[in-house]
Amino acid sequence: MENKTLKFPKGFLWGAATSAYQVEGGNRNDWSEWEKKNAKRLAGEAKNKWAKWQQKRFPEMFDPQNYICGRACDHYNRFDEDLDIAKSLGLNAFRISVEWSRIEPEEGKFDEREIEHYKKVLEAIRARGMEPFVTLWHFTNPLWLEEIGGLECSKFPFFFCRYAGKVFGRIGNFATYWTTFNEPTVILLNSYLIGAWPPTKKNIFTAFRVYRNFGKAHDLAYDMLHKMSESVQISLVSAINYLEAKNKNSILDKLSTFIAEYIANGKMLRRVKHKNDFIGLNYYVHKKIRFPFYQERYKKNTSDLDWGISPGGIYHVLKNLRKYDLPIFITENGLADAEDKKRAKFIKDHLYCVHKAISEGADVRGYFHWSLLDNFEWDKGFWPRFGLVEVDYKTMERKIRPSALEYAKICKNNHLQT
Ligand code: BGC
Repeated sequence: MENKTLKFPKGFLWGAATSAYQVEGGNRNDWSEWEKKNAKRLAGEAKNKWAKWQQKRFPEMFDPQNYICGRACDHYNRFDEDLDIAKSLGLNAFRISVEWSRIEPEEGKFDEREIEHYKKVLEAIRARGMEPFVTLWHFTNPLWLEEIGGLECSKFPFFFCRYAGKVFGRIGNFATYWTTFNEPTVILLNSYLIGAWPPTKKNIFTAFRVYRNFGKAHDLAYDMLHKMSESVQISLVSAINYLEAKNKNSILDKLSTFIAEYIANGKMLRRVKHKNDFIGLNYYVHKKIRFPFYQERYKKNTSDLDWGISPGGIYHVLKNLRKYDLPIFITENGLADAEDKKRAKFIKDHLYCVHKAISEGADVRGYFHWSLLDNFEWDKGFWPRFGLVEVDYKTMERKIRPSALEYAKICKNNHLQT
């Protein structure tokens, strides 16, 4: 990279993202119950699931306790301290999610104290000069809903919309940017096509029902929230992978890539196209596609999870998203890197590519690094460390990683020095 100062557009949002279940602690929902039943199994499977070097470096993967979210980062009680750190890093935006199981612990009964809690969090974010982004659903369901079918339940769109309306009615004016669902396609894949995540149902027909429910619920919530506020901006957060043909000269590989792109990346986005005020993009994965549908993860320069680091992919994804003609916020991008050896370069390389896409017309308005804190990485538990800030899960002490200071320079200057 040549020596250059790459300026980002005025008002660009620099943030970090979190999700309630992964950081708060003390939640009881479909995930917490699933973990209790599956922690031992997950610890036992680690030996065959992860490479020798990963097993050696992260022996906690063999401990069933690793898979129990429990008090997570105790962010529910320490949000002030965590937001102070975010502010000290020069962030001017912050993404949270609100936990449905706290807000509506029993069907139709809303806990005002919990809504009040999130009001305080939003006030605290704003008081520190950061723009809040609020996600209403980040992977978890209240138990009462799970008992009657969860995402499959025919009344799911109604339940979700009622919850969204309640939350928005009380704290809607504390944030402009709201997102309904985080990465519906990741849930369709992991829960209903692979069957590895709760409710561990591998069934393509169920997957279709859930897909339709996500779409309907989003539409209903979009219309309702817009009726309640003129200024609100609403989106659905999409996980979009960079997919390329394994063999660029093979028509069949190209055809498979086109179909995979059409379904995996495009279907949900097209579904909500008319009710999407901006695109929320989560970018992590680069895959090579071989006919008919073999997928290979890009494996160069991998993270602790062995996911390849491919900054160029975000450039292609952003260019591709231009066809929707909507502002784009990168709502997540990050890597598991416990020793913090690759994170600073990861951030700079991705931002270099984001800048390139902007200079070629992509309307990118913000970047949220995943994540502010190390946190609970779903079925993998605590060992993958995604934080700009390290968390000692025993003492709950926070330690700012060197890469966070590098990111802070970019945020504070609104430019990237190459
Ligand atoms: C999810 C996060 C998750 C991150 C890293 C995203 O797909 O939204 O909850 O922690 O990826 O795997």
